[in-house]
Amino acid sequence: MKKINIAVDGTAGSGKSSVMLKVAEKLNMNFIDTGVMYRAFTKLCIDNKVDFQSDNEIKDQIKNFKFEYINEGSILVNGIDYGKNIFDYEVAENIKYVAKNNDVRSFMVEAQRKMSESKNNIVIGRDITTVVLPEAELKIYFDCSVESRAKRRFEQNKRKNVTPNVYEDILRQIQQRDDYDKNREMGALKIAPDSWYLDTSDLDIEQVIDLVLKKIEEIK
Ligand code: C5P
Repeated sequence: MKKINIAVDGTAGSGKSSVMLKVAEKLNMNFIDTGVMYRAFTKLCIDNKVDFQSDNEIKDQIKNFKFEYINEGSILVNGIDYGKNIFDYEVAENIKYVAKNNDVRSFMVEAQRKMSESKNNIVIGRDITTVVLPEAELKIYFDCSVESRAKRRFEQNKRKNVTPNVYEDILRQIQQRDDYDKNREMGALKIAPDSWYLDTSDLDIEQVIDLVLKKIEEIK
């Protein structure tokens, strides 16, 4: 089978990570979740007491961000395992300032392109189909209603023992993140015209995995 890259974008909590992780395992492909990189960078900023109102202070942290991406939820920053803390409430509250920083985005885009050079990767995020890998052999856009997404994230937090875990807070954070993700100047979440659009609101994870596997079969 020929080696391909699959670029995946979608709204927060649309199921793209869980689905594509399973697909990657099944097809023996690398799984690169770029959200983990933005989260880890935000955590580094928090640890270094950055003022999130200052684009310059955020940008200054790029030089301190020596990361090694390991897998789905696991990333080393300066040799330290950040995996456990990247789903913290404080990270979720501040990630918007990092994600709208153009210097941070340029750095991330370049790093992600390098990570994907060898093909056989499933890369997921917000700007993968449009900016990072617009030439990917398959591009997918995941969507889902806000309520279903908040419910899923709540259940996921429960399984991972993430606290605090309040449904109303999650719903508000998701709506706010959608808003920020879709409206920032650089790397805004958009549906690429040649993306395959998948609405997962009324589907369970197994159904979505089946649909994605069939689609990949078609293009391989
Ligand atoms: O996918 P996840 O929910 O972990 O992403 C967290 C946040 O990181 C997103 O809401 C978005 O603001 C940012 N992000 C981004 N570009 C990406 C991946 C994530 O701006 N490629």
